[in-house]
Amino acid sequence: MQPQPTRVLMVCLGNICRSPMAEGILRHRAAEAGINIEVDSAGTAGYHVGEAPDRRAQQAMAEQGMDISGLRGRQLKATDLDTFDLILVMDHSNLRNTLALARTDVQRKKVRLLLPDANEVPDPYYGEMDGFRAVFDMIDDAAGELLRNTLK
Ligand code: 4NP
Repeated sequence: MQPQPTRVLMVCLGNICRSPMAEGILRHRAAEAGINIEVDSAGTAGYHVGEAPDRRAQQAMAEQGMDISGLRGRQLKATDLDTFDLILVMDHSNLRNTLALARTDVQRKKVRLLLPDANEVPDPYYGEMDGFRAVFDMIDDAAGELLRNTLK
């Protein structure tokens, strides 16, 4: 019998820029590597629930051959800490807000920053297209690392 695929949740603030990009990148790279995982994303805030990813996020992904136009924003909920095995957040603010929903040590241990060494994926929302391309590269490196180590 196949083991259950690891369930990974990517989390940012609005769920229209960084975390849907992270969802699309990890899904794409896992498929390329033949690694069976489930990936979703959510925002700690509810401002963009039901919206497609930001146009610039869609464009940065399309430039790399990845299509996230079908994703829709949703807000992080407490039950996500039970449903998912690994919850990867983009910055320290997301980390605080996600941990605020945790009630048990099992839940808390699932939550960590996506990037190593306490680095953040910066919020590109108020910047230019180049910021989205930089975010793509950071997340893509982290996804490669995850697939080589944690999720292999
Ligand atoms: P995200 O970017 O957290 O990477 O999705 C943002 C999107 C929207 C807002 C902030 C950040 N906002 O303030 O509406």
